[in-house]
Amino acid sequence: MSAYHQPIMVQTCLDMLQLKAGGIYVDATLGGGGHALAMYQTEPKIRLYAFDQDADAIAEAGQRLKDYNPVLIQANFRDLRTSLAYNKVKGIDGILFDLGVSSHQIDETERGFSFDRDAALDMRMDRGQELNAAQVVNESSTAELRRIFREYGEENAAGRIARAIETARADKAIATTKDLASIIESVVGVGSKESLMTKVRIFQALRIFVNDELGALPIALTDAINLLNPGGRIVVMSYHSLEDRIVKNTFKLEATDCICPPAIINCICEHSSKLKIITRRPLMADSEEISDNVRSRSAKLRVAEKKKGEQC
Ligand SMILES: C[S@@+](CC[C@H](N)C(=O)[O-])C[C@H]1O[C@@H](n2cnc3c(N)ncnc32)[C@H](O)[C@@H]1O
Repeated sequence: MSAYHQPIMVQTCLDMLQLKAGGIYVDATLGGGGHALAMYQTEPKIRLYAFDQDADAIAEAGQRLKDYNPVLIQANFRDLRTSLAYNKVKGIDGILFDLGVSSHQIDETERGFSFDRDAALDMRMDRGQELNAAQVVNESSTAELRRIFREYGEENAAGRIARAIETARADKAIATTKDLASIIESVVGVGSKESLMTKVRIFQALRIFVNDELGALPIALTDAINLLNPGGRIVVMSYHSLEDRIVKNTFKLEATDCICPPAIINCICEHSSKLKIITRRPLMADSEEISDNVRSRSAKLRVAEKKKGEQC
């Protein structure tokens, strides 16, 4: 098992992808390459295009998969369509998204994702990107911070924490994870479960904002669905309700024919369904996996299949 990241619901992903020899597949979130390796071990005769925006992941997984021949693409999956076109890929037989951050990103102190490791407030998955968490915390208006904490962290104390940040940064810039954790504790106290959960939500909100996670996802899902060959499957694992909602709604939209408002009697939208939804309810990890890997507890896996006769 890789110390970089322990892959989640591997067998379910493989069962759902239905890999076939000669097929073209995409791992949109390569991470440590655990899922990709399992894909090759199940069906070595696949062509795999593997994306990650984090150079560490590309290096780690490249090493791990060196006996196979994946095409490694260091890019944001929001650029899936253009990156695949650049590689002359016109259609794919399956795609896996395992969203969010890897254990490596959380555990590497210097990446600044974790409130219980002191480091510069960074949180960029792609370290070539300009915007980092310190800039967001120090330069956003109080109203914007409140919105970020509310929208991406679903945090009740969003306004109070935003105001505490405004007060603290007037004195000195908020530079580290510990600086931010202390400001949160000054609002919600230290040591309680609520204090811990508030830090989890605020750090999650910042991470989502810095990496524009909810902006990239719908673009990538739509492009992936368009690229799928008939019978090809899209498998998505998400770890919080905001992501899962986007996946559920995108699948639902693409599995629907007419999307005209109810008042329109004769359809003018000309929308036709491209997908068959395979999982009406999300699949979850079993209790054995959850006791072995606590991160699997929040995983929700949804699958859809491109209808026959539909292609990009
Ligand atoms: C949960 S980990 C994937 C773990 C992987 N399945 C494995 O078996 O090791 C998520 C990975 O997706 C990457 N990632 C997240 N959002 C991305 C995006 N928009 N574009 C490209 N990579 C992304 C992260 O950098 C991280 O390495």
